[in-house]
Amino acid sequence: MDFTGKTIWITGASSGIGKAVAIELSAYDVKLILSGRNEKALKETERQCTQNGCSAIVLPFDLGNEQSVKNAADYIYKNKIKVDALYQFGGISQRSFVHETPVSVDRKIFEINYFGTIALTKLVLPEMIKNGGGHLAVTSSIVGKFGFPYRSSYSASKQALHGFYESLRAENTKNNIRVSVIIPGRIKTNISVNAVNKDGKTHSKMDEGQDTGMAVEKCAKIICRKLKKEKKEILVGGTEVVMVHIRRFLPRLYYYMASRVNPL
Ligand SMILES: NC(=O)c1ccc[n+]([C@@H]2O[C@H](COP(=O)([O-])OP(=O)(O)OC[C@H]3O[C@@H](n4cnc5c(N)ncnc54)[C@H](OP(=O)(O)O)[C@@H]3O)[C@@H](O)[C@H]2O)c1
Repeated sequence: MDFTGKTIWITGASSGIGKAVAIELSAYDVKLILSGRNEKALKETERQCTQNGCSAIVLPFDLGNEQSVKNAADYIYKNKIKVDALYQFGGISQRSFVHETPVSVDRKIFEINYFGTIALTKLVLPEMIKNGGGHLAVTSSIVGKFGFPYRSSYSASKQALHGFYESLRAENTKNNIRVSVIIPGRIKTNISVNAVNKDGKTHSKMDEGQDTGMAVEKCAKIICRKLKKEKKEILVGGTEVVMVHIRRFLPRLYYYMASRVNPL
């Protein structure tokens, strides 16, 4: 997609990958809609983006609250904003074992990573179709391609996104809807700090694996280059992304590795 002149709605724009992508896109002549819950952090992203010359608005909402998602979409329609692209980065990770995690925590992860994400897409898609097409991007994870210890419902919520967005793509290619699924490995953001633990509280630690991950600015550059090409799958990260290929071509090796890996 040629970004020039386009209106791009970015969720997860208050921190990490979504924020870095917003800043990277702000170098183009784009109009950005910046979403997340933390209004103060979103305003900081807005400040950095507008400094680069693009226009941006802040539209906070909570992916875990259906009414809040609906209110955000209502704002877009009431103000007759034509969304050319919706790039969704909003999400939370998990740090807890299956046997210790109550279903309420599993549901919380799914409400944000899956239901909130698809709810926003469902509100935007009909208008995009009416407008002659658009580009949707959603953020999965390498653990959206295989299971991983300490991430059971996180992995499941991301795997669910693959099924949903592949189906959406198959239904809507005729409507000029292009779909990119972003598959990051380990990127150095606060994702582990913000991850939910068995008590539904934040893990509040920068895990070693996260700390040694790819720099978020480099990740954002790679993502934007591939979004421009409207790649169907965007795999980005360090050597850990090889696990996706190991799972596919050498499953026995994957089973061996997955049961011995340090999940932190
Ligand atoms: N970093 C990695 O290694 C990695 C690897 C694979 C996949 N990912 C995925 O990449 C995406 C971005 O994560 P990140 O690494 O940039 O982590 P991050 O810095 O923690 O950013 C997460 C973003 O999601 C937003 N968010 C979380 N809960 C929300 C809610 N209930 N409603 C609305 N927005 C919410 C946060 O905004 P507020 O706090 O303002 O709500 C924040 O902007 C996530 O989907 C994550 O699963 C990351």
